[in-house]
Amino acid sequence: MYEDLSLAQARALLEWQVELGATEAIGDEPIDRFELASVQAAPVSDPASPVAASPGPVAPEPAAGAQDAVAAARQAAGAAGTIEALRVAMESYEHCDLRQGARNLVFSDGQPGARVMIVGEAPGRDEDIAGRPFVGRAGQLLDRMFAAIGLGRGEGGGLAPLYITNVMPWRPPQNRDPRPEEIAMMVPFLERHIELAAPDFLISMGNTSCQAILGRKGITRLRGNWAEAMGRPVLPMFHPAYLLRNPVMKREAWSDLLSLRARLSQDG
Ligand code: URA
Repeated sequence: MYEDLSLAQARALLEWQVELGATEAIGDEPIDRFELASVQAAPVSDPASPVAASPGPVAPEPAAGAQDAVAAARQAAGAAGTIEALRVAMESYEHCDLRQGARNLVFSDGQPGARVMIVGEAPGRDEDIAGRPFVGRAGQLLDRMFAAIGLGRGEGGGLAPLYITNVMPWRPPQNRDPRPEEIAMMVPFLERHIELAAPDFLISMGNTSCQAILGRKGITRLRGNWAEAMGRPVLPMFHPAYLLRNPVMKREAWSDLLSLRARLSQDG
């Protein structure tokens, strides 16, 4: 059926499947995964051993791959001496599968060195296409929210600078939540990013960002309460995508913005 496809057609077909959320290529022959599971699970035992007949408790698999991924991220991030070098290091980081399905690495926007750095969750479709964070509907709301207290990512416009990034630089398929191991492997990059950008204040937007920065979730309880992490004050806030779905919560977001504005004028 697919033999007559040109390279361009095959590529377009593949991109379409990725767009639909496909994350794995499958072969022509069906695989009986039940059969496979029983073969893999069969214990390798020494019949001479007195305990060979008893399977006993199964020790959890050591997550060696995950540890390697975090160690590799730590090494690559630590070696980056500038923000541009960090971006290049993330481009070449191969342990995160999300990069396979993403069009672009979405690194940051705004001005490094700004007093306020926002950390969002992960790019969505619009950001994946544009290669910039927060350019879709949630991003437009974010821009309006911060402009209301005099901050903006663009040059000029009378707004003080803002710097914006995400925990995950690649779009998860179908915008699913990033998995804990995916977050864990990007934390060393985020930490280094924050060190290099050196903001006075961090805004942690939503649960994924709170998980990465504060090590915990529960944005409804966390929001509005200043914390300290990664060497600076952190203000957890509702994610603008959540505010689009729950406009009544904008009142809380406004109160958080006022709290940020107060800190900026107090400590500035
Ligand atoms: N949501 C995020 O958390 N980040 C983006 O860049 C876009 C939407």
